[in-house]
Amino acid sequence: MVRPVGKHKSAKFVLMLVFLLGFVLFYNFFWASSPYLAYVRPKTAANVIVPINPETNKSQKGETTKKGNLHERVLAATFADLPAPELKWEKMASAPVPRLDGAAIQIKNLLYVFAGYGTIDYVHSHVDIYNFTDNTWGGRFNMPKEMAHSHLGMVTDGRYIYIVTGQYGPQCRGPTAHTFVLDTETKQWHDMPPLPVPRYAPATQFWRGRLHVMGGSKENRHTPGLEHWSIAVKDGKVLEKEWRPEIPIPRGGPHRACVVVNDCLIVIGGQEGDFMAKPGSPIFKCSRRNEVVYGDVYMLDDDMKWKVLPSMPKPDSHIEFAWAIVNNSIVIAGGTTEKHPETKKMVLNGELFQFNLDTMKWSIIGKLPFRVKTTLVGLWDGYIYFTSGQRDKGPEDPSPKKVIGDMWRTKLKL
Ligand SMILES: *[C@@H]1O[C@H](CO)[C@@H](O)[C@H](O)[C@H]1NC(C)=O
Ligand SMILES: *[C@@H]1O[C@H](CO)[C@@H](O)[C@H](O)[C@H]1NC(C)=O
Ligand SMILES: *[C@@H]1O[C@H](CO)[C@@H](O)[C@H](O)[C@H]1NC(C)=O
Repeated sequence: MVRPVGKHKSAKFVLMLVFLLGFVLFYNFFWASSPYLAYVRPKTAANVIVPINPETNKSQKGETTKKGNLHERVLAATFADLPAPELKWEKMASAPVPRLDGAAIQIKNLLYVFAGYGTIDYVHSHVDIYNFTDNTWGGRFNMPKEMAHSHLGMVTDGRYIYIVTGQYGPQCRGPTAHTFVLDTETKQWHDMPPLPVPRYAPATQFWRGRLHVMGGSKENRHTPGLEHWSIAVKDGKVLEKEWRPEIPIPRGGPHRACVVVNDCLIVIGGQEGDFMAKPGSPIFKCSRRNEVVYGDVYMLDDDMKWKVLPSMPKPDSHIEFAWAIVNNSIVIAGGTTEKHPETKKMVLNGELFQFNLDTMKWSIIGKLPFRVKTTLVGLWDGYIYFTSGQRDKGPEDPSPKKVIGDMWRTKLKL
């Protein structure tokens, strides 16, 4: 029998093609739409398995995982919470107002808490004071009308608080170069020479008799500035007519911790890029732009050259007032890290980091009660305190939500 072999064969071939095409389409669709498979992609060394919260058996995005690794998701390492010991946190009296991107300076037993957004459309222009001796808030007083309301550079020499530049007004308004000194004993404010150009959230410290200001974002709120200036100050008095240019910082950008310890100036973490005002918006409405978060650490010492120190365990920004020096260690609470690789949402940090200056090593010494950014830290009687900032949506969702005034503390053992 002669069978129409050729015809039969080609029909089979067409059928196979259709099947293959169908499979490819289905697979592509599944690839793109499945939350599980979306990130099981070519793996690089920088990827990790998302940890599953043992209390809920859910990943941070809230998906319940099945046994075996079929549904394990692979995400960028920097997104995940890092393993951290539990700490016992005590809730103290909340601040009179919630604030985001405010500033804080501790002088002896008092934490002066300045400015900040109450909501994105409302900014504070006063100071609240927390007394660590009796754990109460009080002593509210006003800031000068011309002083910035967020993204301030601020430092103390023990009595005077020096306040440089920052954002003036709510949403994503422009910065001011206006600069002040506050005498905390008399509550008197005085002007200082303005910064040569305004900045958002520059790294600011008092070092060897000079006020140092560096980095931050430029006038458009997004472009990192590399410039570094200093001016001589003593007992609240400015000794020079203008700011002096200093060695530029290796990486610019806002929201870093800037610490002077053992006579060295250290700059930690931060980011390049930030939200910007929407072009033409009459209210300067904030609109998201790309930002990259860093864990870099740089140090200036006698050589007046920047040296690179070990990086943080993960990128960390929004930590300008979230640190304290404890027993020759720098301790940092929370912050923000790289955006979620899938949802692209901002991701908050919930770790308490330690940089030990004896060993020059980073470690994670505990978990905060929740993830939080731009929190304001103080240290008293062996306790680390933090207040204010913006916290996460909950244990399963590390993106930012509520602006808080909460005050918490835990006993440290370093
Ligand atoms: C999570 O999974 C483990 C192991 O399957 C189980 O023992 C535990 O009870 C689960 N916890 C919850 C909260 O479902
Ligand atoms: C802080 O509290 C202590 C104890 O109540 C009190 O003696 C001290 O005067 C307070 N300091 C200020 C500045 O209010
Ligand atoms: C700092 O070190 C001293 C001496 O070792 C110790 O007694 C103290 O508890 C330490 N403080 C903290 C906050 O760890």
